[in-house]
Amino acid sequence: MIATIRPATGLRGEIRLPGDKSISHRALILGALANGTSRLRGLSHGDDVQSTAACLRALGVDVEDGVVRGRGVSGLRAPARPLDCGNSGTTMRLLAGVLAAQEFSSELTGDASLRSRPMDRVVEPLTMMGAQASWPPLRVGGRAPLSGIEYRLPTASAQVKSALLLAGLFADGTTEIVEPVTTRDHTERMLRAMGAPLTPTNQGVRLSRAQALAPIEMDIPGDLSAASFWLAAGALVPKSRLRMTGVGLNPTRTAFLELLRRSGFGITAGATTDAGGEPAGWIEIAGATNLAPITITGEDAAGMIDELPVLAVAATQLRGVSRITGAKELRVKESNRIEAMARELSAMGADITALEDGWEIRGPSRLEGARVDSHGDHRVAMALAVAGLIARGETVIEDAECASISYPGFFDQLESLRQAC
Ligand code: S3P
Repeated sequence: MIATIRPATGLRGEIRLPGDKSISHRALILGALANGTSRLRGLSHGDDVQSTAACLRALGVDVEDGVVRGRGVSGLRAPARPLDCGNSGTTMRLLAGVLAAQEFSSELTGDASLRSRPMDRVVEPLTMMGAQASWPPLRVGGRAPLSGIEYRLPTASAQVKSALLLAGLFADGTTEIVEPVTTRDHTERMLRAMGAPLTPTNQGVRLSRAQALAPIEMDIPGDLSAASFWLAAGALVPKSRLRMTGVGLNPTRTAFLELLRRSGFGITAGATTDAGGEPAGWIEIAGATNLAPITITGEDAAGMIDELPVLAVAATQLRGVSRITGAKELRVKESNRIEAMARELSAMGADITALEDGWEIRGPSRLEGARVDSHGDHRVAMALAVAGLIARGETVIEDAECASISYPGFFDQLESLRQAC
């Protein structure tokens, strides 16, 4: 699909966000391991979460319309064929943790992008826990039980942390994860809500084997990473006013929102509810004043890793030199996001240089509509759409259908906000 984005003179309206992708994956997987039926309202309908649901079905779990009939911690069935994780790194890494601990072995596969992403980061620690695990292709399981280990994450990654915690549910002794940089803690919150023996430590978390997990009832909050496109667009397109409710405001996810506020973006937010241990609330966006350039380094980058493509777009509109560094991980996401954003924003007239671990961006630039490519990456597609809204002339985004990985209906939503002006 090709998306054509015309410049906007204002965006207005109330936005319905997709359910949080990270929380949706975890709720399905942990629901599958629970003793009883979990009811999940507002699950993400994105392709990635559908991949997790399909893999769980192939493991014998009944999952339909947010209802997961848990099979207990030892109830999964050996899959008849390789499990297709599609484009989803979270599906592959989290399921690798669960499946490494099973007496049967499983192969996990996916599309060309996913098959080329690094899986040694889960294979190595799972092997240290005594699992049979190899990559590529990713094969895990066949030797149980595992033994708990203490593991210091070499790269900030909630997916690796979660994979090891999931494996730790089945391991003798304790599993302790040490995180040099705090990453999203949805797995820990959900495990606690389901009664798993988990305790926070100074720099991480410790878990012992779980005999049983209680099922969950949850309203999944809206995805703050999906909201990030509107946070940028609503502030950069003049005369805009956008509102979102029921958005996840977990403090391990709000770094981007706080950065934009500090940089002069007109964003207000307030917490209203707490669902399944996850805080949620409302956000309003209207205009921007005195936009200052930004500097992002290691720790900051890890806390807003998924928001960096759209941050690069925003930085093209800030006066001065913005430096976004410490984000080498962007090279091994659904695409090489450093090169993809540098190439496409340059084509639109931005002054952007790709660095080994980020970008240097000199602003403000008058962006020009151009023919650009999503590189098959949902967040690149949506970030370029935001660039198109503030560019002069038409922007044509090739391969734009990948937005449905995390945000089905994104382009329709964008047009409806424009029509409401
Ligand atoms: C995710 C963790 C992050 C993030 C991804 C979702 C998760 O990846 O980029 O979109 O749900 O745990 P890493 O764990 O590789 O940093």
